[in-house]
Amino acid sequence: MQIGIDKIGFYTPHLYVDMEKLALARNEDPGKFLIGIGQEKMAVAPVTQDAVTLAANAALEILTDEDKEKIDFVIFGTESGVDHSKAAAIYVHRLLGLKPEVRAVEVKEACFGATAGLQMARGHIALHPESKVLVLGSDISRYGLNTSGEVTQGAGAVAMVVSAHPKILAIEEPSVYHTEDIMDFWRPVYSDSAYVDGKFSNEKYISFFQNVWKQYREKTGFTLSDFKAICFHMPYTKMGLKALRTVLDETDEDGRERLLAHYETSKSYNKIVGNIYTGALYLSLLSLLEQNTNIEAGARIGLYSYGSGAVGEFFSGILQPGYRKALQPARHQQMLEARKEISVAEYEAIFTTSLPNDGSAVTLPVNEDPATVCLAGIEGHKRQYVNKNNRVGG
Ligand code: HMG
Repeated sequence: MQIGIDKIGFYTPHLYVDMEKLALARNEDPGKFLIGIGQEKMAVAPVTQDAVTLAANAALEILTDEDKEKIDFVIFGTESGVDHSKAAAIYVHRLLGLKPEVRAVEVKEACFGATAGLQMARGHIALHPESKVLVLGSDISRYGLNTSGEVTQGAGAVAMVVSAHPKILAIEEPSVYHTEDIMDFWRPVYSDSAYVDGKFSNEKYISFFQNVWKQYREKTGFTLSDFKAICFHMPYTKMGLKALRTVLDETDEDGRERLLAHYETSKSYNKIVGNIYTGALYLSLLSLLEQNTNIEAGARIGLYSYGSGAVGEFFSGILQPGYRKALQPARHQQMLEARKEISVAEYEAIFTTSLPNDGSAVTLPVNEDPATVCLAGIEGHKRQYVNKNNRVGG
């Protein structure tokens, strides 16, 4: 039985900052942000979007009634959780109108959470082939104004339906992984922004990639020529390229050209959205699948997942016949083009606006946010969500 990704949805907020303007405001050469880091635009989440709403908006665009009938497991990967106790998956479960006979949990390991969810989903489908699993990766990446990580912020979510007989990508065995207790990036419970040892995180991302790629090669006997393309966790679009370059001499000129050309395609959405942490690898996969013109069904795609702290995993999948029909490039293009540019000052004002943390109530301007699912406020210590399609609130 083949198990894998049947559908992929994506959502990013309607606001962005131009990275050339951010560079100038930070007294940096724009070349550093645009080329050295590889980011052109950065998505900014208004106060009416959080990890829950981003994920619900991403899932809304893909779920049919049949999916809703079959989904019996919702796995929400995030490092931007809204509650220390209750799983974000439960809010999404209600906002999407899923049936009650569902397991709903939140998974955390930095940017690795959605990959953990995908692999858990595969195990679940192996035991229950008729069911479907909704895997979510949703985050708002925050380092702080005027920090070196600021250029790598972003916001967005990816939603995947995982099933038997998937329409997009059948995940293969084996999958290889590696864990080490390191402090390259972390966010203590008292902080709403991440702490990072930037250079160390880059080194570890690359060394974990080399570790899992070596394990994978030894287990499978595959070489780079067995892959049409490799997608990487993309904290910023230069990062995966740095890792890829360290192994390119294992293949010939044609192989290098192919992998580098597809890498370019795989960063199409990420370079204008920014780091979306758990969803970043799958946004890169979506970029590749929706924007390529020459990858046929049957092609093997490699996936490298990295979550700081740290866990790395390398696995692969085979593109399924007719996979293009299961994608929505026009819809995503339209969503990205309809976004509104805000100035650096407007972005700074949004960044420094926070929800009350003393238990007081607040009502938020959901009419200023075109998203279907929004955070409408806080009342009695409870987040109030609204789905404008059916005005299910509370
Ligand atoms: P920095 O020190 O400001 O940047 O921080 P830099 O001085 O290293 O410059 C960056 C690149 O720009 C360099 O290229 C420069 O040469 C180039 P490189 O040597 O790296 O190829 N450059 C220019 N290029 C063209 N024209 C110019 C120019 N000037 C300079 N004029 C850093 C960069 C990424 C460290 C920082 O932004 C940061 O700390 N970011 C956050 C951490 C991060 O993204 N780490 C990635 C690996 S860890 C990970 O992926 C996990 C994560 O997603 C979290 C999770 O798992 O939850 C982050």
